Amino acid sequence: MGKDEVIQHNSWEFNEEVSEVFSDMLSRSIPDYDNMRDLMFRMARNFVTPYSNVLDIGCSTGLSSKRLIECDEAQKTDFTLIDISEPMLTKCKEFYRGRRNVDVRYWDITEGCPICCCSVIISCLTLQFVPIEYRQKIISSIYNSLNKGGALFLVEKVIGHSHTIDEVMVKEYYEIKRENAYTEKQIKAKRKALAGTLVPLTIKMNESLLEVAGFRKIDTFWRYLNFCGIIAVK
Ligand SMILES: C[S@@+](CC[C@H](N)C(=O)[O-])C[C@H]1O[C@@H](n2cnc3c(N)ncnc32)[C@H](O)[C@@H]1O
Repeated sequence: MGKDEVIQHNSWEFNEEVSEVFSDMLSRSIPDYDNMRDLMFRMARNFVTPYSNVLDIGCSTGLSSKRLIECDEAQKTDFTLIDISEPMLTKCKEFYRGRRNVDVRYWDITEGCPICCCSVIISCLTLQFVPIEYRQKIISSIYNSLNKGGALFLVEKVIGHSHTIDEVMVKEYYEIKRENAYTEKQIKAKRKALAGTLVPLTIKMNESLLEVAGFRKIDTFWRYLNFCGIIAVK
């Protein structure tokens, strides 16, 4: 696994260079990363049912679904992992080569979900990269693609409800990045590259998208500074 020394001068792209160091990038730039992964897996395995589908939206190299794919509860479940980044898809296909119940494919989620009858749908740090005008359509499509009792796991960067509190959270977030050995130059360049490409909403705005889609059982399973994991059950 390579070390994340990526500096992008234009808008952020999930390109070949990013795909090479992606695991290191996530673990050093998502605070409380291991707990988030662990909790999502622990929660999700309770919803996986045999002979259903699991959809991972914006799968990148496929790490979000890894433990679920390997767990006992999911041996009779089919997994579909989608992304629009070819370098990420190449890595993900390589990783799951030979797994008979895993289908990794190119699919743009702005077209809606590619499969139905899902017991679990994962969208981990993906929706924030999709233009806002598509988000309601996507969440509604997710609702329609879930079986009754199925669950969406939505992990997103969020903005605080209060500007004062948000400022402190952002400050501490960059402090964590420094502690994780990112240089000032890297931090500044990434912030600039992500501006306008990664567009976070507040938790309330995300919840409102879920409610409009039809979800009535919504809760937070993980939160660390301005990162949040929401579970919504159909
Ligand atoms: C931060 S990464 C997701 C990380 C991954 N879910 C994980 O947990 O390891 C965001 C991913 O979303 C993908 N993406 C962005 N827009 C998309 C779209 N419209 N449809 C599908 N995937 C998309 C990107 O290519 C990128 O791989």
